[in-house]
Amino acid sequence: MSVAKLFENMAIGNMTARNRIVRAATTESLATRDGDLTPELLGLYGELAWGGVGTIITGYAFVTEDGKPSEGALGIQDDSHLLRFRSLADVAHENGACIIMQLVYGGSKSKLATDDPRWDNGGRAKCPSASVGHFALPPLSQPNTTILGASSVENPRTHLVPTEATADELAVLADAFGDAAERAKACGFDGVEIHAAHGYLLSQCLSRRFNKRQDVYGGPLQNRARLARECVEAARAAVGSDYPILVKLNAWDEFDDPAGKNGGLSADESAEVAAWLVDAGASAIDVSGDWHAAAAPLEAGEPFFAEFGARLAAELPVPIIVTGGWRSPAQIEAHLERDGIAGVGLGRPFICEPDLVARWQAGDMRESACTACGFCQKHVGIPCSLRQ
Ligand SMILES: Cc1cc2nc3c(=O)[nH]c(=O)nc-3n(C[C@H](O)[C@H](O)[C@H](O)COP(=O)(O)O)c2cc1C
Repeated sequence: MSVAKLFENMAIGNMTARNRIVRAATTESLATRDGDLTPELLGLYGELAWGGVGTIITGYAFVTEDGKPSEGALGIQDDSHLLRFRSLADVAHENGACIIMQLVYGGSKSKLATDDPRWDNGGRAKCPSASVGHFALPPLSQPNTTILGASSVENPRTHLVPTEATADELAVLADAFGDAAERAKACGFDGVEIHAAHGYLLSQCLSRRFNKRQDVYGGPLQNRARLARECVEAARAAVGSDYPILVKLNAWDEFDDPAGKNGGLSADESAEVAAWLVDAGASAIDVSGDWHAAAAPLEAGEPFFAEFGARLAAELPVPIIVTGGWRSPAQIEAHLERDGIAGVGLGRPFICEPDLVARWQAGDMRESACTACGFCQKHVGIPCSLRQ
């Protein structure tokens, strides 16, 4: 079986990766409470880079203190971690991989630890999220934070009701994405990825279901896309013309609703937004979707968004990465050949086998052993049920 395409270089902006396989952003829940690097994280990223993957996208890193999406997430909210983040970039480079930092503002999708002070402030939660309650850590350094949302609409997963951000607050947030991109570049990352998928704040702004605003950030699609667009523009202004800025975008919001009948982003709307983001300065689009929704085909086997990725590759002048559901090298090769996409993003397969790409490169073409059992999503440190 030939997998020549898979092992070609992949270029995005001024970055050239050694192959077309991307470790999709995967939060490990191993950072300190204020988002700093830990030895465990450094080891994990070293292992990944050593394992042959071309590009690593970090787990999400929050751009402001109040935007922390979950306990143990990385944080690039200020300059305090930059020295250690440089060692994260270095460990990837020393092992031949490119590394991109994913930037996020969590909003009402955030999973707050039970002692997170945001419960008592603007994020008027109805009940603590059951999923993260196992941390006994010191309080956040800035206790009076508020969780901002597009509108004060309860999140069905976390039951958080965010405080509707003012237009000024959203504009400030876009600048925070710009500042974060500048920091990532300064400490040696090869690029940044703006997280506008999976129901976090930027993704919510795009959705009629969560965005009920009447101002310039609400209403028509162009307005709902304004925040994502401003984040890309701010990042572009901060990092210069060739530096890779990826945007992770839902192909559509809900797995069983590509037409957006439930008020979420539809596939056609998403394609329009992607084009605007490229106009605004995005170097590549990373296609994803609400893969963790109940209806998602978690058994995997088939890529979730390949068709939409092929559509974007035909419509847009930038590299398209398609993330989710990839398991076999033959399947990846076929889609790289056929769909015009630049690369593929794999998340859970690298939790299961950090050296998956090296294994394939050595000629062992068996597909990923990942069974999508969900174990990694429920535990700190992304342990794999097959590696116990
Ligand atoms: C434990 C875990 C953590 C994740 N964290 C992130 C994240 O920080 N940012 C993000 O965009 N996606 C995150 N994802 C989603 C992955 O990037 C990817 O979209 C998803 O796992 C589907 O790809 P797969 O079928 O190859 O696993 C996470 C997934 C898992 C399993």
